[in-house]
Amino acid sequence: MKHWMIALVVAALALPGMAFAGQKATTIDELAQMFDASRCKACHGEIYRQWETSHHARPLMGVHGGLKDTPLAMAGATPWSPEHPSEATLETFPCFKCHLPQALTHAEDSVAAEYAQALLDQDRRKIGQLKITCIVCHNHRAIIHRLQEGEPEPNVLYGTRDIPNHPDPVFTEIRQSPVMKEPLYCGQCHGVGVNLEFGNPVQCATLYGSYQHAYIPAGGTQSCQDCHLYPKKDGFADHRMLPDWNDTELMSQRLAESLSLNMQAMGYEWLRAGGDRPNRLVIETKIDSKAGHRIPDG
Ligand code: HEC
Ligand code: HEC
Ligand code: HEC
Ligand code: HEC
Ligand code: HEC
Repeated sequence: MKHWMIALVVAALALPGMAFAGQKATTIDELAQMFDASRCKACHGEIYRQWETSHHARPLMGVHGGLKDTPLAMAGATPWSPEHPSEATLETFPCFKCHLPQALTHAEDSVAAEYAQALLDQDRRKIGQLKITCIVCHNHRAIIHRLQEGEPEPNVLYGTRDIPNHPDPVFTEIRQSPVMKEPLYCGQCHGVGVNLEFGNPVQCATLYGSYQHAYIPAGGTQSCQDCHLYPKKDGFADHRMLPDWNDTELMSQRLAESLSLNMQAMGYEWLRAGGDRPNRLVIETKIDSKAGHRIPDG
């Protein structure tokens, strides 16, 4: 029996609730289960391992596990903070728009209330289950022009080409996504500027705005995918999507490569009648960036 056939049988036995049966999750466990992609590992092992190390696999954990949303759960700490965690709703966490978009379509307010309590308890195990999984990217966020292309279909994953028979028990077909190779695809979460639609505007990532307004007008030609998913690693689009802010050493090494600093200095000394004229130093600096946008972002 081929590896993937064994995996198929195992996956079918262990299958979580049908991901998109139309119901909404009322608990964090249910929401995590709906988008759980651990069965993809059996057949896409290398990509899975890459993704597992990426920020997309820990979008609510914060750098070095700092649980960045904690102030939003603390009474009085931010304009969104509820008096009591049980009063938290999806609206009191505007961060979900990009950090956990599936919550907005597939969760009840009770999930936000449970999340607020988990933040106060600093319950990293519970919060760590909520991820931007394979299913979020290859189904939920894979179609952007929905009026034209329709909603993503419940049994279809979207990728780079059509595959009519995909051996996954839920997602039995792969269709070519019209947008996954475009910068806009990443841009839907990586921010164009201030998010003005909220009761209080929120600004977090604005990197896609910088790409569109600075890099492209200056003649830039590469896409996010060109720089972050290629060259392919181990034969696949690189799902580590570096950089990784938790890996400080790798981070400094990459920044040293992508930001070059050229500095020239010249000193002036007044030889005669110096008197009250101070000596001078002329410094010329030139910083070059290989990125397709500002760094750091935000
Ligand atoms: C039983 C094995 C199996 C399982 C489980 C499985 N896949 Fe696949 N998948 C395949 C095979 C085989 C292909 C086709 C690869 C080829 O033709 O090169 C494929 C293709 C794909 C593609 C299309 C790649 C492209 O070229 O664009 C995507 C995306 C994908 N799978 C995602 C997933 C995700 C996400 C999951 C989990 C929800 C999953 N797969 C589960 C075996 C599997
Ligand atoms: C427009 C989409 C968007 C919204 C809305 C958003 N974020 Fe982010 N955020 C991102 C992206 C994308 C990154 C990572 C990339 C980057 O920093 O350029 C990020 C990174 C972060 C980081 C730094 C990395 C980390 O995990 O520590 C923090 C902290 C953060 N966001 C907090 C928040 C909080 C709190 C909210 C809600 C009040 C929020 N964000 C709302 C998209 C968003
Ligand atoms: C569903 C929303 C979403 C999509 C789509 C998405 N990202 Fe992200 N991405 C995020 C969030 C949220 C974070 C930050 C997670 C955290 O807080 O650590 C992130 C983190 C990253 C990081 C790590 C650096 C950092 O500052 O955290 C890179 C690089 C990255 N994304 C690149 C991409 C690229 C390239 C694409 C398109 C192929 C893409 N992302 C698509 C939401 C998304
Ligand atoms: C942040 C969004 C994001 C996440 C999360 C994500 N993918 Fe992808 N994936 C992409 C994009 C974008 C491409 C298309 C790259 C390109 O331009 O060829 C892709 C390509 C692929 C391909 C085609 C392989 C190739 O080399 O082109 C497969 C298979 C795949 N993904 C499987 C998975 C699996 C399995 C997971 C979960 C472990 C996953 N993806 C998680 C965005 C994502
Ligand atoms: C010309 C190549 C290039 C293009 C195009 C590009 N990037 Fe980057 N990006 C880089 C480099 C270089 C860095 C610096 C860090 C590193 O080398 O890992 C970086 C850093 C980042 C970071 C981390 C920023 C931070 O402050 O945390 C994110 C997130 C990111 N890119 C996402 C994207 C997205 C989304 C797009 C498309 C809208 C994109 N990049 C387009 C080269 C590029």
